[in-house]
Amino acid sequence: MPSGRAAVVTGAGRGIGLAIAQALVEDGYAVVGGSRTVTEQLAKITADAVQVDLGAADGPARLVQHALDRHGRLDLLVNNVAGTANPAGGFGELDDDAWLHTVNLTLMAAVRATRAALPSLLEHRGAIVNISSVNARLPQPRLIAQSAAKAALTNLGKSLAEEYGARGLRVNTIAPGPVWTDLWAAPGGPGDMLAERAGAEREQLPAVLGMSTGRFTEPREIADLVVFLASGKVGNMSGSEIVLDGGMMKTA
Ligand SMILES: NC(=O)c1ccc[n+]([C@@H]2O[C@H](COP(=O)([O-])OP(=O)(O)OC[C@H]3O[C@@H](n4cnc5c(N)ncnc54)[C@H](OP(=O)(O)O)[C@@H]3O)[C@@H](O)[C@H]2O)c1
Repeated sequence: MPSGRAAVVTGAGRGIGLAIAQALVEDGYAVVGGSRTVTEQLAKITADAVQVDLGAADGPARLVQHALDRHGRLDLLVNNVAGTANPAGGFGELDDDAWLHTVNLTLMAAVRATRAALPSLLEHRGAIVNISSVNARLPQPRLIAQSAAKAALTNLGKSLAEEYGARGLRVNTIAPGPVWTDLWAAPGGPGDMLAERAGAEREQLPAVLGMSTGRFTEPREIADLVVFLASGKVGNMSGSEIVLDGGMMKTA
C-alpha cells in the first residue's frame, strides 16, 4: 500500500477546490478530490477524482472511504465545499429548504467528512483546513444563510482544534474575501449584479468591495495558504483563522 501523504479535498471540481487539489498534488500529496461534477481539469490532475453528492448524508464519508481504500491513510482534509441557496435573496426570501441546503453543504458536509477522517488523521498526526469566509464575521443580508453557516464552520474548527490538539491534530480555518471564481465571474452572476447595483463597471468591483489591494484574490493564493497550513512548518499553529481578503475587512 502506498505510504505517501494523502489528502481529501471537498468541492474540488473547479474554483478554489480545484486550485487546492492542484497545489497539493504539486506538493507531493495523493489527492482525492470529490465533486458533484468531475471536471476534465480535476480528472487531469488526479486519478482519484470522485463523483459524489456531498450534500447526501453518506456522501462525505464515502469520499473519505475512497481515500482510505486507495491510499490506506489520510494526512489532510480540506473542507472546501459550501452551499449558497438563493444568494440574491434576503431573510424574507429564504424558507426552511434554502436554510437547510446551505447549512447541510457548508457545515454538515464538513462535520461528516471530519467524523469519517478523524481516526486516520489522528493516527498520522494530520491536519484539517476549513475554507470558511469573511462572511463568518461580516454578515451579509444577501448571504444571510451562508454567513450564519460559515460562522458555524469557523466555530467548529476552533472546537476541533481544542478537543484534538493534544493528540497532534492541527485544525485551521481560512476566511477568504472575494476570490475570482465562477461565483463572481459568471455572466449575469453576483459580480454583475453587484456592479449594477453600485452603478459601477466590473473592473471597479474590488474598490466597490473595499479591497485595498485593488484586486480579487486568486484561487491559487488560497491554495498556497492551504499547502502552508498543511505543511506543519509552523507546527504550533492550530485553532487559527487566517483572513485572506485583500484588505477588505477594516477592523484592527
Ligand atoms: N469565491 C469566493 O469569492 C469565495 C469567498 C469566500 C469563501 N469562499 C468559499 O470557498 C469555497 C469554494 O468556493 P468556489 O467559489 O471555489 O466555489 P465554486 O466555484 O462554486 O465551486 C464549488 C465546487 O463544489 C462542488 N459542489 C457544489 N455542490 C456540491 C455537492 N452537493 N456535492 C459535491 N460537490 C459539490 C461544485 O461542483 P459543480 O461543478 O457540480 O457545481 C464545484 O466543484 C466555498 O466554501 C466558498 O464558500 C469562496
